[in-house]
Amino acid sequence: MAEFIPVPPFDLVVFGATGDLSLRKLFPALLHRFLDGQIPAQSRIIGAARGDLDTNSFRKLIHDSHEEFAPGACVDHAKCEEFLQHVEYVKLDATAEALAWAGMQAALSTGDGKVRIFYLATAPSLFVTIAQRLAETGLATPDSRIVLEKPIGRDLASARAINDGVGAVFDESRTFRIDHYLGKETVQNLLVLRFANMLIEPVWSRATIDHVQITVAEEIGVEGRGDYYDKSGALRDMVQNHILQLLCLVALESPNSMDADAIRAEKIKVLSALKRFDAAGAKEKTVRGQYKAGLVKGKAAPAYADEIGRRSGTETFVAIKAEVDNWRWAGVPFYLRTGKRMGERRSEIVIQFKQTPVSIFGGGEGPNRLVLRLQPDEGVRLWLNMKEPGPGGLRIKTAPLDLSFAEEFGVRYPDAYERLLMDVVRGNLALFMRRDEVEAAWTWADALLAAWAENGGEPKLYAAGSNGPEASANLMDRDGRAWWDPE
Ligand code: BG6
Repeated sequence: MAEFIPVPPFDLVVFGATGDLSLRKLFPALLHRFLDGQIPAQSRIIGAARGDLDTNSFRKLIHDSHEEFAPGACVDHAKCEEFLQHVEYVKLDATAEALAWAGMQAALSTGDGKVRIFYLATAPSLFVTIAQRLAETGLATPDSRIVLEKPIGRDLASARAINDGVGAVFDESRTFRIDHYLGKETVQNLLVLRFANMLIEPVWSRATIDHVQITVAEEIGVEGRGDYYDKSGALRDMVQNHILQLLCLVALESPNSMDADAIRAEKIKVLSALKRFDAAGAKEKTVRGQYKAGLVKGKAAPAYADEIGRRSGTETFVAIKAEVDNWRWAGVPFYLRTGKRMGERRSEIVIQFKQTPVSIFGGGEGPNRLVLRLQPDEGVRLWLNMKEPGPGGLRIKTAPLDLSFAEEFGVRYPDAYERLLMDVVRGNLALFMRRDEVEAAWTWADALLAAWAENGGEPKLYAAGSNGPEASANLMDRDGRAWWDPE
């Protein structure tokens, strides 16, 4: 049975409260936690944005957005109404001088004794200014916390500037840098699987593992985010953060506890061991792609250039053969792949084991694979070779051992933001990125961006609805391997 331990009462201020992330993810996540009884009655969620709204019209906006983004959550209408009573709105241009903050100061004047959280669901260019205003207005009390949404900058230099600026007001123990992939159920299960089972550790290295694949494929295009996305591209948007975090959790050594710094200290070692690309390495081991028009699940999808209204050299797909240069992983490639407008939405980590050294059955054994599916249907499967039952010759079948229990127990998988938001209130930093992690990830990404710039060349086009450019399949093929793309 799921267990919900109420968190302490809190005042959560969401900057960028009318934006896509807030409506699509943050408010639905808070609603679910409220419906499960985890949010105490004295808590308040204060939306802040420039829009000309008041508390009533903002509640209406949240109510309507729940119908779209939390469908089916409000079977108990009275309970959902009750949730909305915890929501308030303060109209605020967060970049404005301290004087303009009177409304926010008034809203927070009754919050004594509660956990105070500022969630910056805004462009990263505003992070430092908002932190400074919070200091000038006295709203950043010694115990208050700040939550920063990714991206933290667009390269190492801008990430450092953000970390310095925000760090001048909020020390590291009060800074929660969100990477929502760390809140996904299967990602947490990866740690449990690795460190709560004696069976796994002895096979978790180059002695037994052939390679690792991490795929994050999306069906969606850039939607209304073309302006942001075109300056960013798939490497900055997905690889520098989400995919590297997944890689870290696959590759890290056992932390000595689940304590935040114990985990983060191990992740930083992995990031530091990631081999940096130079121009030649980037040419050989990476692929950039961009979608052209095509069909995604039978529906016509426009080309990226048409979606953003201009030609562009930004990549909407990348495939990378990454290498972790340490004793455990030397010689075990980590193939990373992500793209928009691909054939299906699917995120998974595949640990592919080596073939048996000889076959005494005359062949037919497939490699063992441990497949951790993050979405859409979360689960863990271990592919093993078995004897196909029945008489006749001895035939081998590769079949999955299903390690997913959610369906069996009728548990709803919580959205990543539900767990992460509650962790902020509890003050648990384990699933958030520490400053040095973000900067190490940028150091690696910057080297690749520089190598791409040096090599020049446009991204390779792939049809929307496909598995990416052919070069991505070739990247594996050259090594005698193939992407795991089940039918
Ligand atoms: C975000 C990216 O961080 O993650 C988006 O900015 C992407 O471009 C999204 O679509 C994917 O998240 P999820 O949880 O839907 O896989």
